[in-house]
Amino acid sequence: MSTVALVGAQWGDEGKGKTIDILAQEAEMVVRAQGGSNAGHTVVYNGQEYKLRLIPSGILYENTDCIIGCGCVVHPGVVLKEIESLTARGIKMDKLRIDARANVIMPYHIAIDTLAEQSRGANDIGTTKNGIGPCYMDKDERVGIRMRDLIDEKLFAAKLKNVLKEKNDIIVKLYGGKALDFDEIYKEYSAFAKKLAPFVCDTTVLVYNAIKSGKKVLFEGAQGTLLDVDLGTYPFVTSSHPTAGGFCIGAGVGPTLIDEVIGVAKSYITRVGKGPFPTELFDEVGDTIRNRGHEFGTVTGRPRRCGWFDTLILKFAVRVNGLTGVAINKLDTLSGLKTVKVCTAYEKNGEILHDFPADISDLEGCKPIYTELPGWDGDLSGCKKFEDLPENARNYILFLEKEIECPIKMIGVGPDRNQNINR
Ligand code: GDP
Ligand code: IMO
Ligand code: MG
Repeated sequence: MSTVALVGAQWGDEGKGKTIDILAQEAEMVVRAQGGSNAGHTVVYNGQEYKLRLIPSGILYENTDCIIGCGCVVHPGVVLKEIESLTARGIKMDKLRIDARANVIMPYHIAIDTLAEQSRGANDIGTTKNGIGPCYMDKDERVGIRMRDLIDEKLFAAKLKNVLKEKNDIIVKLYGGKALDFDEIYKEYSAFAKKLAPFVCDTTVLVYNAIKSGKKVLFEGAQGTLLDVDLGTYPFVTSSHPTAGGFCIGAGVGPTLIDEVIGVAKSYITRVGKGPFPTELFDEVGDTIRNRGHEFGTVTGRPRRCGWFDTLILKFAVRVNGLTGVAINKLDTLSGLKTVKVCTAYEKNGEILHDFPADISDLEGCKPIYTELPGWDGDLSGCKKFEDLPENARNYILFLEKEIECPIKMIGVGPDRNQNINR
């Protein structure tokens, strides 16, 4: 297999960064194709933790090309900070490229994201306030500023002047905020542009040539299937397409060029932000999972909502992404629980549902029907083979595999790149 795409199969934070880092050992290129600095991907290597937001998780390997594709939204200040902090830790940046078409996150996107969330009050979405939604809105409105515009002083000045008046009207007249100053933005972003210009090019050529010459290329999803703006739990979603189809547009590759799609899931579920979550736990078990699994947001520090594994969600992810395999992370976190529950159907108004509903109005009020399985004890982090796992942990994986009808190919037993079982 030369090209593998990795998608989040739940609501994000499934351990995609870690799984990509493991697969990147054999890869020659890692490509991000959607989202922006709302993502927080953690890689642990040699006891050191790296938290990546825009830069692909393949960056820790010296010979791996890393691409930020045209479907991403790029905050130049955030990416520069990442470049500086990784460089300070001895990581080389000469393999990083950013697509000329990628839209730039501007200060007014962040201001509008923040003000809009405030004005929604109790009806807020719970965004990361990174300006993601407003930036994708501008892209679709066709008033976005792209990386190619940013690195061209004159074009940038003209486009910024054009759009800023309207944005300030929204900020001041609609939300009562403070107008942003053209000169300040221009100065700050022109300085970013000078530093980022060497990284900007048409990355679709690089990706195509890599695939054509038989190189192993990995596509790194951000967010997760249920955060997809069309397929997810709308409106409690992000503004991009974190599903497999998103790679085609966001990296500029045809679907025939992607050989395999792996869905990354946790052995339980977490969610940050708002929206329905049928298997959410509000009891001590939820607290135990949150504390043991360190379930606090990488980007915002918010406590993540925790709940039991939901096979309806995974079956949905298998279907809409065409998954050829699944990676289950954090099996170690469930160790020590007397029993573990798995949701295999929902009940609503006396009706039994086997498919994840299309809309949150139908999802609201769905009660999970659980199968309860015996738990297991002990530290799993040293397990290297499936046979090394306790019998009940193996049975848990085999039960999930049967329910979701997709092979579980990798099992995470710790945050480090070595704490992983390949099946
Ligand atoms: P991502 O956004 O999907 O890349 O995931 P995050 O990095 O936001 O959150 C996953 C967290 O789980 C990170 O702290 C990882 O280091 C950690 N992690 C990943 N896989 C495992 C695993 O198998 N076991 C444990 N204990 N931690 C893991
Ligand atoms: P990674 O790649 C988990 C959630 C936010 C919010 C909703 C919309 O680390 O898995 P946005 O700022 O995108 O407009 O917020 O989406 N969200 C994530 N949740 N993991 C992520 O990324 C997320 N990126 C966005 O919490 O509910
Ligand atoms: Mg994350």
